[in-house]
Amino acid sequence: MRIKIAAGNWKMNLTYDEGKQLTEEIVNSEIPADVQVILGVPAIALARTACLAEDNSNVHIAAQNCHHIASGAYTGEISIPMLKSIGINHVIIGHSERRELFNESDEFLKLKVDALLEAGLTPIFCCGEPLNVREDGGQNEYVKAQFENSIFHLSGEQFSQLIIAYEPIWAIGTGVTASPQQAQDMHSYLRSLIEEKYNNDIANGISILYGGSVKPNNAEEIFGQTDVDGGLVGGASLKSETFVPIINSFS
Ligand code: PGA
Repeated sequence: MRIKIAAGNWKMNLTYDEGKQLTEEIVNSEIPADVQVILGVPAIALARTACLAEDNSNVHIAAQNCHHIASGAYTGEISIPMLKSIGINHVIIGHSERRELFNESDEFLKLKVDALLEAGLTPIFCCGEPLNVREDGGQNEYVKAQFENSIFHLSGEQFSQLIIAYEPIWAIGTGVTASPQQAQDMHSYLRSLIEEKYNNDIANGISILYGGSVKPNNAEEIFGQTDVDGGLVGGASLKSETFVPIINSFS
């Protein structure tokens, strides 16, 4: 059985007090025992938000980024040992906004994945194609290249530590969701790639999340697809009225 995951990505939203209230509402909601909730909160709030969630074993706090070097002259960056020292175990890596707005390359993301696994943290590895690639029907090759360049060098044991998030860029923050069938097709393709590269057990054991305009009114159908194990949710994760129903959208 794969782990069902409802992950939120707050991006650069919410003041500390707003995030505190949201975290408390989520932590105090009834989360199904078999669902893992992961909140990707801004770096400045990680330590205090982690404390708010520490008594609920279903809720984990994730960083939205990290640097791959342990310490040094990298003004403004946050290292993995720093995250580890405040109890953070998950880090979102390679979100399309980091790739596009901050020029993070596949090669750079590979360094981050390696450093996280080395430190025993879980990367939530994001992948996904832009609109023009989808329109040309090149999405499978595009995402395959992202895997080959950043994560297919891992051993099987390392690979099975990852959480994958497929997020077609054209569906992020646009209100346009991939259809449940489009999500299923890509997830099943990715699972077949993983099986080819590693083996059936690893392919069937890894959680692959869908991201891109997941809302309370579409989550159930998307999460109901055979190869979709949950979601990475942006806008709808900023309010408990929308995120709690998403957490409860697994059948
Ligand atoms: P969205 O963002 O749900 O607002 O589309 C998803 C994401 O960027 O992870």
